[in-house]
Amino acid sequence: MSEKIKATINGSEFEFPVIEGTENEKAIDISKLRARTGHITYDDGFKNTGSCQSEITFIDGETGILRYRGYPIEELAEKSTFLEVAYLLTNGELPSTAQLDEFRREVSEYTPIHHDMRHHFAGFPSTAHPMAILSAMFNAVSCYTPHLTESTYDKQSFEEATARLLGAASTIAAYTFKKANGRPFTFSNPRLGYVENFLHMMFTDPYTEYEIDPEIVKALDLIFVLHADHEQNCSTSTVRMVASSRANLFASVASGVSALWGPLHGGANTAVLKQLKQIHTSGMTIEECVRLAKDKDSDFRLMGFGHRVYKNFDPRANILKKACDRVFSVLNKKDPYLDIAKKLEEVALTDEYFIERKLYPNVDFYSGIIMRAIGIPVNMFTVMFAIGRMPGWIANWREVRENPDSVIYRPRQVYQGPTCRSYVPADKRG
Ligand code: SDX
Repeated sequence: MSEKIKATINGSEFEFPVIEGTENEKAIDISKLRARTGHITYDDGFKNTGSCQSEITFIDGETGILRYRGYPIEELAEKSTFLEVAYLLTNGELPSTAQLDEFRREVSEYTPIHHDMRHHFAGFPSTAHPMAILSAMFNAVSCYTPHLTESTYDKQSFEEATARLLGAASTIAAYTFKKANGRPFTFSNPRLGYVENFLHMMFTDPYTEYEIDPEIVKALDLIFVLHADHEQNCSTSTVRMVASSRANLFASVASGVSALWGPLHGGANTAVLKQLKQIHTSGMTIEECVRLAKDKDSDFRLMGFGHRVYKNFDPRANILKKACDRVFSVLNKKDPYLDIAKKLEEVALTDEYFIERKLYPNVDFYSGIIMRAIGIPVNMFTVMFAIGRMPGWIANWREVRENPDSVIYRPRQVYQGPTCRSYVPADKRG
């Protein structure tokens, strides 16, 4: 017998069913609330609202759990690779060796984008923000495969579009970097793995010898794995909303890129590095930084801290913190920004303001430090996040499109504007 809740509205009693998830999460099903009571609910920022039922990723914010299709992020970070995780997220199961080989081949085949796409890059100023280019290019790349932009859904087209997007994401990112630096594009090398090939396209050209370091490949692969999905975050919810109108996968992902760009979301990794640089160069003390972050009159926030869901450690931050130490020791590098970040974390985590609000380091706090160490420029950090998040966006798009009961997202509102009034001709207005 499923649980029900009772509500009394205007003297009448109503019952609503409770939905329970496989991890015992509970939700009051209000699908028929307005029809039965004339009321809607109000929940600014959807902090208490479930927008869907999903089988992809589970997060427990209180205990710091993150699992992709049931597999703990700690195990995937240690034992898997980005393309294997991409297969898991977009297909629901870990691939056999043969399935993974075929998936890798397909992504590699579609990594080169249409040669005419170079003209699109030529149209951007070298100062264009990489996220603006990335979002524009996902729709542009779909223009060369109109059969993949139909509003109907079929699995074969989905699989081709998935491989094309994973491949094109790395190429567009690399070419964006080359465009900004006035360097010639380097074509994809099908003999290289996904991350090696990305680094090859990004950092090599006829004038530059770039040796692909396996440790750097491992660190970047880990960053992509850790960013691959994260339940109904802002950008993934955006992708689902666009998917619900039956828009194609490229258009949906392009919208996800735009949502991710914001500094409260995927843009935080860039903001973290800017903050660490500000502390390092301005002589601002850690204590001053923490004081500012607590000052309600300042719009200064400790970037990379806090999370809508995690009220305990973000497990990804823990993994990245350890990866930082490993990368720096292997590359035999020291980085004052890492020292500042660790001190900042130490001070914040003993401060009542952060403890009371359960503000812990999130995925963005350490990711930028590693990316900087492996040579990724700061303005490309959020692009790296987007490459990593691609499988999650694709998996969520598929879940919407394969759900026969899926309806278009169309939230309601509480209107607070002017009540009815008559038109006043311009010469009669005050
Ligand atoms: C990502 O949703 C996801 O899953 C996202 C993500 C993913 O993988 O997709 O995990 C990736 O986006 C991580 C978050 C990256 N953003 C940042 O690091 C930006 C800094 N963090 C904050 O802006 C904030 O913590 C958010 C946006 C992440 C969460 O904001 P919420 O849930 O809306 O919380 P809130 O703004 O209501 O804050 C609650 C309180 C407030 O103080 P009071 O009004 O109660 O006094 O905590 C304070 C806030 O002022 N607060 C902070 C703070 N974060 C929250 N104070 C100082 N510094 C901060 N970073």
